[in-house]
Amino acid sequence: MTLLLDINGADDSWSPVRWQARFQAELPHVRVARAGSETYTADEVRYAAVWKPTPGLLAQLPNLKAIFNLGAGVDAVLADATLPDVPLVRVVNADLTRRMTEYVTLHVLLHHRRLPMMLAAQREKRWDAKDQWAARAVRVGLMGLGELGRDAADVLLRLGFRVSGWSRNAKTLAGVTTYSGAAGLDAFLGATDILVVLVPLTPATRGMLNRNLFGKLARDGVLGAPVLINAGRGGLQVEADILACLDDGTLGAASLDVFEKEPLPATSALWLHPRVIVTPHNAADSDADEIARAVATQIQWHDRGEPLLHVVDRSLGY
Ligand SMILES: NC(=O)c1ccc[n+]([C@@H]2O[C@H](COP(=O)([O-])OP(=O)(O)OC[C@H]3O[C@@H](n4cnc5c(N)ncnc54)[C@H](OP(=O)(O)O)[C@@H]3O)[C@@H](O)[C@H]2O)c1
Repeated sequence: MTLLLDINGADDSWSPVRWQARFQAELPHVRVARAGSETYTADEVRYAAVWKPTPGLLAQLPNLKAIFNLGAGVDAVLADATLPDVPLVRVVNADLTRRMTEYVTLHVLLHHRRLPMMLAAQREKRWDAKDQWAARAVRVGLMGLGELGRDAADVLLRLGFRVSGWSRNAKTLAGVTTYSGAAGLDAFLGATDILVVLVPLTPATRGMLNRNLFGKLARDGVLGAPVLINAGRGGLQVEADILACLDDGTLGAASLDVFEKEPLPATSALWLHPRVIVTPHNAADSDADEIARAVATQIQWHDRGEPLLHVVDRSLGY
């Protein structure tokens, strides 16, 4: 039996060679092969572990039983029109979830406490004591109440923010005002000062962060203008609209971890915009050792006939 790794476009800690060593240590009785760098027999491949897989590669494996994506978002895998019809499993991991909650909390707090303005004042040696509001004066809207959105909601509630959330299906979450579906979107946006985006990139969500949506955010909040925090996927946002909305006051500020094109091109006006914070798609890195262990455990379960966890609904795209 072979586990095939096809890992592309990642940094050193995610190098395919390191993943191979991790998986080989977890699965000593399995042959772990790297696509493109060594020979393997396609018929012998039962499982694949992938990140941004090579289009068409997985379709060449006639006995493939499951595909494990090494991250939470599966949009890059589903972009392959030839993807074979076997279970696609994504990462759900407490370490990754906590890191995303750190990112969300950090960015909500820095906009709420006006840190960018204070850092600018410090550089000019200006003692500029701007008003600070109680967290309960600020409405944070979580777009996406999945694994990541729900955990962030817990921490934001504990800090005293007014928290709401929007999801595809209706949900009940203690302390959170919830909205769902297209019918609930406008009401959700109208009650949001800081919009935190944690939805997956799917055909239904692509490009939804646009001028039309930003124009529906609350305009009567203490921050003066709404704030966008996108840690979901770059394909959700229309960057030309973000820039135009920042410039005409529809948006007050933005924290962006993900971009239409990554790495963000040097020509992008987002880099130097005074009210934009750019982070390089590292809101929530995943601990590679933990992920390898979790995938190996699932492979062993599956071989014993037990069900896989965190299987993606391919018809919904997440
Ligand atoms: N920047 C980073 O470093 C980083 C790291 C990890 C993940 N991410 C991104 O974060 C995303 C969310 O991860 P997760 O683990 O929280 O995913 P998840 O558990 O699948 O949750 C997704 C949430 O989005 C909602 N949703 C999906 N499509 C929707 C639609 N059309 N309309 C309304 N709501 C919709 C879902 O609604 P239901 O609850 O009703 O299904 C769910 O609440 C990932 O897909 C990935 O793109 C980014």
